[in-house]
Amino acid sequence: MLDAKTLKKDFPIFRNQPEFVYLDSTATALKPQSVIDSLTDYYSTYSANIVRGVYDISEKATAAYEETRMVVKDFIGAESEKEIIFTRNATESINLFVNGIKDTLQKGDEIITTIAEHHSNFVPWQQLAKKRGLIFTVVSNEIFEVTKKTKILAITYASNVLGTINPIEKIIEEAKRANPNIIVLVDGAQAVPHMEIDVKKLGCDAFAFSSHKMVGPTGVGVLWVKEKLLETLSPYQYGGDMIRSVAIEETKFADIPHRFEAGTPHIAGVIAFKEAILYLKKIGLTAIHNHEVELAQLCYDSLLKEFGNDIMIIGPKKRQTGIVSFVLKGVHAHDVAQLLNEDHIAVRAGHHCAMPLHTSLNIEASVRASFYLYNTKEDVKKLCNALKKVKTVFI
Ligand SMILES: Cc1ncc(COP(=O)(O)O)c(C=O)c1O
Repeated sequence: MLDAKTLKKDFPIFRNQPEFVYLDSTATALKPQSVIDSLTDYYSTYSANIVRGVYDISEKATAAYEETRMVVKDFIGAESEKEIIFTRNATESINLFVNGIKDTLQKGDEIITTIAEHHSNFVPWQQLAKKRGLIFTVVSNEIFEVTKKTKILAITYASNVLGTINPIEKIIEEAKRANPNIIVLVDGAQAVPHMEIDVKKLGCDAFAFSSHKMVGPTGVGVLWVKEKLLETLSPYQYGGDMIRSVAIEETKFADIPHRFEAGTPHIAGVIAFKEAILYLKKIGLTAIHNHEVELAQLCYDSLLKEFGNDIMIIGPKKRQTGIVSFVLKGVHAHDVAQLLNEDHIAVRAGHHCAMPLHTSLNIEASVRASFYLYNTKEDVKKLCNALKKVKTVFI
């Protein structure tokens, strides 16, 4: 079991704002002291560029940067650290993959994605399909037809709105049975911070996620791609650090993964990302998952009991992740969020970068409360009490 009250002490933001109820970890998670210290340590003691330097602090920074790559590799069960590319965020990871794979696709090839995708795993594929004359198929559940024409399946592991986890292993197994050549990219942005991941077991070809949703720094993302496939992808950006040699006539590119990491990266962020992973591992992903699902279920049950027909909660009765999205009938989501803010409660209001999903549900906007390792039952109670006040104002 996880002791959220004790864990809260690791997050200095609560020392600075003791009243603060943070229910927006799906957007970005708070940062523990160890991550903040790691950032400060880099900038104050070995703030040099990586790879190029032959002096002590540059070598130290390079070693620390590469150590994170090893930690990420183990954390997601990758075969080799060569498969781990550092990007700015999950969005850039997916765009990098789309760009890398685009030349292997031909007019009439099909890309399948789902209605529940975050825009990051929807718009890049949609735009590619438009430019290249590809078929862009959007499915609304896990039962869909894969044919020889289906070249790409781009699917999220966990929804950032519905509070659901897709049965990814089964979906991939069936897709690959129908077409062994299909390439599957999994958007793991809402999965990696909350549950054990083993990319080999999942059977996907590529996997994307962000550090900032897993108590790490902003500005750091990861794209994992199977080594054999990664070797065939075109580079995303050209410039320094991704080359082996450059002449007027020709450029030879560096080996993977460096071929995909042009320019100076977010060195401090990548180094501190290691501390974030160690922090999550110390608590245990299963304990984190169980804790947030328990809070989300308590929230779901309490809201339904309190508001009955005045509330529409999106997604299943049995919560699978720490997310509870809802619509208070007759009250705009932004009004709800603004009133909650007066009680020091931070929730998200809007379409949560999932407009196709909201449109399909016939909703313009929803309120999303999301729970993580530092949230408590007290937070659920405060949310419910504050929503009762909203009800007295509007309903
Ligand atoms: C499911 C999902 N995919 C992708 C993203 C994009 O992440 P980022 O903004 O870090 O690129 C998000 C962010 O909320 C998300 O929830």
